[in-house]
Amino acid sequence: MSLPTHVRLVEVGPRDGLQNEAQPISVADKVRLVDALTAAGVSYIEVGSFVSPKWVPQMAGSAEVFAQIQRKPGVTYAALAPNLRGFEDAVAAGVKEVAVFAAASEAFSQRNINCSISESLARFVPIMEAAKQHGVSVRGYVSCVLGCPYEGNVAPEQVALVARELYDMGCYEVSLGDTIGTGTAGATRKLIEVVAADVPREKLAGHFHDTYGQAMANIYASLLEGVAVFDSSIAGLGGCPYAKGASGNVATEDVVYLLNGLGIDSGIDLEALIVAGQHISTVLGRASGSRVARARSAQ
Ligand code: HMG
Ligand code: MG
Repeated sequence: MSLPTHVRLVEVGPRDGLQNEAQPISVADKVRLVDALTAAGVSYIEVGSFVSPKWVPQMAGSAEVFAQIQRKPGVTYAALAPNLRGFEDAVAAGVKEVAVFAAASEAFSQRNINCSISESLARFVPIMEAAKQHGVSVRGYVSCVLGCPYEGNVAPEQVALVARELYDMGCYEVSLGDTIGTGTAGATRKLIEVVAADVPREKLAGHFHDTYGQAMANIYASLLEGVAVFDSSIAGLGGCPYAKGASGNVATEDVVYLLNGLGIDSGIDLEALIVAGQHISTVLGRASGSRVARARSAQ
């Protein structure tokens, strides 16, 4: 299969990245990050989450962030919604696209959203109905597609089952999350082959955490399998509060560098992206998780 000519990157840094930060980050700093990402040409930004603040305190100010960002026409500003309450709060904040999130492993589903996989899917049905009424698009996530922090191995067929349910209920795209970053290129190819029997490849996205340093290889493996949408996080921010030891998603700067080298268009200006990443790294008081950004700043 030939490589795609265009790849869409879903920037999850302000959500997946920052949700895991224990230190307070001001609404102004979050807004500044989202605006810098917009200015760099990112076409899809996951800005926040409408989840319980008891579960993920860092996302509590998401409505204020949405109220203050500069929205550029053509750019999608999305939020996570775990239930109808979250969906309604998101709509009230002017959100036009939400993501629902399920897991391929029962234990992770319990720890992350306090219910079984089938209960979570049942919870999404009223969200899908309300979304249709409000003209809101819904993206779906499946977590633990290449391993679970509590259960270990996860069968690709189990991932396919959950992905198919999300797709059939109306998610326009299903993002496959390697939450703990244990996946390898071979396992990634096999996973996509199995899932693609149930959900078309052009409706799949890859979401790779870089805990084991495999994310770039897994993205390349996914490209070879015909996947053309990837989630990534500016400066490699983040982890998952319910997956101990999980590091951030693959850094957006590094993915753009890879795509540029392959002649694949992402619409993103790498230099502007690096500046956005350096700024949030300064706010957090640590070095960027992007190898490209670190190499550039050493020059
Ligand atoms: P629960 O405790 O079972 O829910 O949590 P509940 O319905 O019993 O409600 C408990 C309290 O939360 C109540 O408040 C509700 O009002 C409130 P209280 O009466 O105790 O004061 N509540 C809410 N508040 C604000 N917004 C809401 C909301 N819903 C209930 N939407 C629940 C269930 C799903 C709410 C909870 O488990 C939760 O919020 N979990 C979120 C976990 C999370 O955000 N995880 C990180 C995102 S997933 C991820 O990172 C993976 C991903 O990146 C892909 C990958 O890497 O694999 C996407
Ligand atoms: Mg994630």
